[in-house]
Amino acid sequence: MAGKKFINAKLKGYNELQEILVEDGVFKAIAPHIDVDSDCEIEDLGGKLTLPPYVDPHIHLDYVFTARKQGATNGTGTLFEGIQRWSETKSDLTIDEIKARAIKAVKMEVSHGVQFIRTHADVTDPNLTALKALLELKEELKDIVTIQIVSFPQEGMYSYKDGDKLVEEGLKMGADCVGGIPHFEYCREFGEKSIHKVVELAVKYDKLIDVHCDESDDPMSRFVELLTALSIVEGTKTTASHTCSLGSVDNSYAFRMMKNFKKAGLNFISCPTENIYLQGRQDTYPKRRGLTRVKELYENGINVCFAQDSIQDPWYPAGNGNLMNVLDNGIHIAQMMSFEEMDNCLDLITVNGAKTMNISDIYGIEAGKPANFIVVDARSEFEAVCERADVVASVRNGEYLFKKAPVAFEALSEFMA
Ligand code: FE2
Repeated sequence: MAGKKFINAKLKGYNELQEILVEDGVFKAIAPHIDVDSDCEIEDLGGKLTLPPYVDPHIHLDYVFTARKQGATNGTGTLFEGIQRWSETKSDLTIDEIKARAIKAVKMEVSHGVQFIRTHADVTDPNLTALKALLELKEELKDIVTIQIVSFPQEGMYSYKDGDKLVEEGLKMGADCVGGIPHFEYCREFGEKSIHKVVELAVKYDKLIDVHCDESDDPMSRFVELLTALSIVEGTKTTASHTCSLGSVDNSYAFRMMKNFKKAGLNFISCPTENIYLQGRQDTYPKRRGLTRVKELYENGINVCFAQDSIQDPWYPAGNGNLMNVLDNGIHIAQMMSFEEMDNCLDLITVNGAKTMNISDIYGIEAGKPANFIVVDARSEFEAVCERADVVASVRNGEYLFKKAPVAFEALSEFMA
């Protein structure tokens, strides 16, 4: 096997440009110079920043491109109206229709450098149509993108009839993670009961946990506390998505919780563009930002990452799968723009997302791992973030998914010459 050698790669942590040898779709060696046979294919990366692929650990592929559907328009822009609109308009979904929309969204994400996606699938539907569609898609697209699916009760485990049983059925059908939405349940007791059920199911079926948790400005929405406690006791691999209310609690409570988050090894997913848009809707001024404590989690060594969440659905009218845009918004809103933070913040859409998805064994530019990487149009992490640099190539198992030609720039004035 002749293999393929990518030369002039700017890798994080190396001052010198590196060469990357790939054989049989796997990284064989990474070094400043690698001797190869004369028939080895050579690809020049031109000194551009070479990263492991972007990870989108939280999106709803069954919802994408439904924002303009008849009856789905969210007039108040709140999370709760979004759920109501979805509930009222989801009855006519079909497997083929969901797949067509989801494929369009996955293509958009992949074109921006994403190769790993965790999607939620709404299982508050007795026919489990969305889950069936996304399970098919996961298999069909596995050579292009790795997809994990959360069995997610959008309308509640106990506020929707048999929601808990539908979540369990979703796990039996092949979902990778158990989901929940405690802050949306009709009462605190249902919310707490749902957290107990999530952890029970994760242990019973050996699944990951990813709960939509405390997506609210209510500082008394504190289900993450119970989720953390049960995760410590049961040793589950747990992710808390959103946790917006942590941005509204007082510091002494947050301080105490940080210790437990660390002990539980909890992962946090923040969706900056969606939550700055959805939250703070009952505020006048000052108006809260609606994000969880991303900066403080990061500084406390707790794994935190960013995600897209929505692409034109009843919760958020924009979104295009470009995680550089999500990162750009996130570091501004979370005030994470010291030079050190800017040098390292790409972790929030790469390695930290991979850690959340529990895929560290197959993720990263290291010998022995699948040869998946992206090339960013920048010479350093700082430049990439500053310039909101584009992903110009994406390689999966050693083969290009796409490569972009340089954009032509013609100086038509003396000043721009
Ligand atoms: Fe979500």
